[in-house]
Order: sequence, then structure tokens, then C-alpha cells
Amino acid sequence: MNPYHKPVLAEEVLTYLSPEDGKTYLDCTLGGGGHTELILEASSPHGRVVAIDRDDDALDYSRKRLARFGDRLITAKGNFRDLKKVLAEKGISAVDGVLFDLGVSSHQLDTPRGFSFLRDEPLDMRMNRDDEKTAANVVNNYSREHLAEIIRTYGEERFAGRVARAISEAAAKKPIETTGELADIVRKAVPGGGKYAIDPATRTFQALRIEVNDELSSAEAALEDAVDVLKPGGVICVISFHSLEDRIVKNAFARKAGKCTCPPRIPVCVCGARKTIEILTKKPVTAGPEELGDNPRSRSAKLRCARKISEQP
Ligand SMILES: C[S@@+](CC[C@H](N)C(=O)[O-])C[C@H]1O[C@@H](n2cnc3c(N)ncnc32)[C@H](O)[C@@H]1O
Repeated sequence: MNPYHKPVLAEEVLTYLSPEDGKTYLDCTLGGGGHTELILEASSPHGRVVAIDRDDDALDYSRKRLARFGDRLITAKGNFRDLKKVLAEKGISAVDGVLFDLGVSSHQLDTPRGFSFLRDEPLDMRMNRDDEKTAANVVNNYSREHLAEIIRTYGEERFAGRVARAISEAAAKKPIETTGELADIVRKAVPGGGKYAIDPATRTFQALRIEVNDELSSAEAALEDAVDVLKPGGVICVISFHSLEDRIVKNAFARKAGKCTCPPRIPVCVCGARKTIEILTKKPVTAGPEELGDNPRSRSAKLRCARKISEQP
């Protein structure tokens, strides 16, 4: 078992991508390299994977673990929103398949980097530790209104106003520095804080993580570019872990599948909708009972896949 991260929906991803010898794949979220390893094995002996991650831990770990594949594994540090630039730097103009396994790895959750409120640790949450913005910067410096908006939108928190007020008031007295301090503030601010099945801090932590790492806009930008770099016949697979991400994937696929987004009152389409992909998963694929029993993280995973069709004139 890979102690860094256990890949989710691995069989399903392989079925849709169906890697072949000699082809080139792009893994936009290398993590512990679980999916990349399977793609390299399935495309032996000459298939290649270009793998991106913005976290040095993931790159260091996976480069060592997957060293046996030699130059068939090409890694790059960066944000997947720059995937076109990464491929250009590697001299690659198009790929045969793309994978996104969005969100954080088990390693990121299990090490003291501020992603978890189950331990008291510095309020950081950066996937890329070269970035400047930490979760502590956000809670201590954003206005109450800005915090409320983030917590409402990215955390889908009903009591976002109350939570934002409690955070701002606490930060005005003394900067909030740890996950434990923040979780306590949030729990006290949510009415009936102690009686929920899910810890009330979950939604605010999700919101802050999305804000710190600019997760949704990165995904939105990258999905468009990923379809552009796919060769006709190539498949894109995207695994998401919460409803906001899944909506972005669903909408991006719908746009690329030619769905017109013009307002209903306009008689002729002006949005330029053009069908460039065929959606392979009408509904998202979820984990089967065996994987659910084996890997609790698979519970919220949703996989959507699409195939690039030949360019239309
Ligand atoms: C769920 S893990 C991937 C796990 C991997 N599939 C495996 O089998 O081990 C997500 C990884 O994507 C990286 N990541 C998330 N957003 C990113 C982005 N915008 N650009 C680059 N890497 C990103 C995270 O740092 C993390 O290592």
C-alpha cells in the first residue's frame, strides 16, 4: 500500500483512459503517484506520463518511488492552470489522455500543514509552500464581509455571517494562529455547534482551503486547456470531492460538448458553442462497495470522463 496516498477509483480511471504503449498522458495532480504508476504500468514499455504537482513533498516522494520508470515519467512543479506552458517547456504539443484527481492528498492532511482541525497545528493550508497567502493571513486580514462571502460560497455554510463575525472579533483581539483556535471559534459561532454529525468547522475549513489555494478558478481554467491539448480520440478523466468542484467539471464538460450558454431570449446562438468532446459518463462514477469499505476517502469521490472528438471545421 502507498503510505502517501491511496488512489481512488483507480480501476475506473484505467478503464476510461485505457492507456496504450507508446502514448503520452498528462496527470495534473501527481500526489503520491498512485494513478501515474498505474498508467505507466499499463502503457509499458514506452508510454510516458507528464505529471504536475504544486507541492514539493509530492514531487520529491513520487520521483523517488517511481524512479524505476526512468525518463518515461516527466515531472513538473507548478499549478495545473499552467498546463499548456508545462507541456510546451517539455516539447509536447498534445497528449493522449488527461487526469485530474482534485483536492488534497492524504499526506497533506496527515502532516502538520494546517489542513486538519483534528489536531492543533499552524494555520497554513498552502499546497505550494512558496505561495505567500496562508489561512492565517486570510482569517486575520480579510474584512468580515469578505470572510462571510468566502465561507458562504466555498463552504456552503448557512451561518457564514455569524462565523465571519466571530472570526473577525477574535482576530481583532489576538491573531488566530492555529487550527485548534479557529475550529473552537467556528464551533461556538454555529448555533447548536456540538450536536451535528459533521463537525461545524468542516465547512469553514473547506472554504479557507479553497481560498488559500485558489482551487476553483484553477480547475475552471485548467479544464478548458486540458481539452485543448487532448488529441482527437483522447480521454479526459476528472475526480472531484465536493459539490462545488463537481459542478465546475459538469459545466465545463457541458460547454465543451457544445451546450449553448446564450440567454434564452436571444434567437440565434452567439456564444460560439462548439462540440469538441463527447461525454462518456452521463452521471458521475462513484466508488463500489469494496472500495468504500477499503478507503473512506473514496466516499465523496466523483469521476467524470469525456472523449475529444475530431476537430470540426
Ligand atoms: C488527491 S491528490 C492526488 C493523488 C494522486 N492521484 C495519487 O494517486 O497519489 C491531489 C494532488 O494535487 C495537487 N494539486 C491540487 N491542486 C493543484 C493545482 N492547482 N496545481 C497543481 N497541483 C495541484 C495537490 O498538491 C495534491 O498533491
